[in-house]
Amino acid sequence: MTQEKQKVRKAVFPAAGLGTRFLPATKAQPKEMLPVVDKPIIQYAMEEALQSGVETMIIVTGRGKVAIEDHFDVSFELEQLLRDRGKTELLRQVRSLTERVQVAYVRQKEALGLGHAIYTARPLIENEPFAVLLSDDLMQTERPCIGQLIDVYDTYQSSVVAIQQVPHEDTSRYGIIRAERVVDDRFPGELYRILDMVEKPAVDKAPSDLAILGRYVLTPQIWDKIGKTTPGSIGEIQITDAMRALLAEQPIYGYRFEGKRHDAGEKLGYLKATVEMGLSHPEVGAAFREYLKSQQF
Ligand code: G1P
Repeated sequence: MTQEKQKVRKAVFPAAGLGTRFLPATKAQPKEMLPVVDKPIIQYAMEEALQSGVETMIIVTGRGKVAIEDHFDVSFELEQLLRDRGKTELLRQVRSLTERVQVAYVRQKEALGLGHAIYTARPLIENEPFAVLLSDDLMQTERPCIGQLIDVYDTYQSSVVAIQQVPHEDTSRYGIIRAERVVDDRFPGELYRILDMVEKPAVDKAPSDLAILGRYVLTPQIWDKIGKTTPGSIGEIQITDAMRALLAEQPIYGYRFEGKRHDAGEKLGYLKATVEMGLSHPEVGAAFREYLKSQQF
């Protein structure tokens, strides 16, 4: 039986983490709801998926995350108020995402790691390829980052992760790959075939400076691998370990995508994301640029 080519229709957004790096701001609100200019960071990731042709968004939540569900739901009272006051543009903005997007929620009951968070979405996906987006990694690109990975998936029918070079001393913060370059002119970024990968290696053990960033397209064979993964780095079930097991059976690619990534999961990266997204914002960008120029920092 020949296997039909399957499309990437679903995306998983792990959002059950505690957000301790942003305390006290995240004491009573999810870190995914922190705004960068005028949108919560999870909305950037969701728009990225939507622009890449993903149809169903699966958000993995936990305790204290109801604000995320409310955000992607219709707010009848707010819409009525905006309508009554003639705020049509704001109304359009508020409605635009909720109208276009189909969201499902699953709960991760215990914080057992990223691999485990993704695994909770298994019953909603099962036998098809899917995307994973970590909203902490805020991508600033011309073509959506996950769309760039989906292009690679469509061509190679293999799992693919976003990668970028990081300073060597930062390698212990990421999944790091060992890989060989694949020359393929169909892709504007750099494609690599992954030979091995390790989660958060000690700096002197890092096999390269190529780090996995929070965008993945995975084949459904990953499920059994996650199911068999035992807690690794920091006692959690790591997606990197499950992918490493998958590597023994299938090729996995790394794609050095075109564009920038901001680490909005830590304070400095969050500030940088705010400045850069502020500068390119259609409403306030020009005035913000003037303001920054006028400051004697
Ligand atoms: C996770 C992954 C790691 C990856 C990183 C990208 O780590 O486990 O492999 O490099 O995201 O942001 P976390 O940032 O959740 O510790």
